[in-house]
Amino acid sequence: MSNFLELVKSRRSVRTFDGRMPENSVIDELKTFSEGINNPYGIPVRFVFLDAAEHGLSSPVLSGEKQYVSACVSKGKDADVAYGYSFEALLMKAHEMGLGTVWIGGTMPREKFEKASCLADDEVMPCVSPLGYISKKMSVKETLMRKGVKADIRLDFEELFFSESFETSLTKGKAMEAGLFDALESVRLAPSAVNKQPWRVVMDQNAAHFFVKHDKGFTTPDYDLQRIDVGIALYHFERELIEEGRNPRLETNTPSIALPQQMDYVASYRW
Ligand SMILES: Cc1cc2nc3c(=O)[nH]c(=O)nc-3n(C[C@H](O)[C@H](O)[C@H](O)COP(=O)(O)O)c2cc1C
Repeated sequence: MSNFLELVKSRRSVRTFDGRMPENSVIDELKTFSEGINNPYGIPVRFVFLDAAEHGLSSPVLSGEKQYVSACVSKGKDADVAYGYSFEALLMKAHEMGLGTVWIGGTMPREKFEKASCLADDEVMPCVSPLGYISKKMSVKETLMRKGVKADIRLDFEELFFSESFETSLTKGKAMEAGLFDALESVRLAPSAVNKQPWRVVMDQNAAHFFVKHDKGFTTPDYDLQRIDVGIALYHFERELIEEGRNPRLETNTPSIALPQQMDYVASYRW
């Protein structure tokens, strides 16, 4: 198994921290890493590292966190998808460094975080994450929250991935034969808002077409949290293929595939 898939399997959202502030050297390493993050859309994402006490920041679902990172992006086409890709690159790096994180897109005093991030008029700040050391014991509210969204469960492979059209599910066996099992498994295990797992992928030879299956209540005038989820999925898929020595390139040419209801095309990888 690749290092990346191992990393994906060992990640979970963390909402209970041990109360320690990460060392300056750790935050500096993450800052340096964040400055080098790009996404296939070429849309810059601005990361802001925030001391919780200094800015009076907290979230009702978290405890013991001392540090946050917020991410801002200019409003525009595909900004949400690019945002998911770039922020996930940072959060997977934090996980690799031994820090706990959780995407927070709803359960926060948004105005306070936007002010602390010096949000510009043409920008949005869809999500933030705490950065800290994981507490040995989960808080009761974290345990309840995980149960509420069935956080340890994912949809089956066959419900998410398809072959040539949405009519035919892609079996695990076929994915293995095509050498795509680990990349798709990295997508399947990714985090998503309310664990809805809105990504759907139709495989066609050396292309993977990514779609979003919309649920109600995730869109705002400037971004769609479920397209952010698909951006996260794109990052996982691309990173796994690169680790396997392939060279995936993103394109946005809508394929002629008949769409079920609530489904929209996002982007495709070819390699
Ligand atoms: C875009 C996005 C927004 C999220 N917003 C919140 C949030 O506001 N509050 C929260 O507690 N968790 C939030 N989550 C975390 C999800 O609930 C979590 O990823 C999902 O339940 C799966 O659990 P896991 O990450 O432990 O695998 C969000 C996740 C994503 C990707």
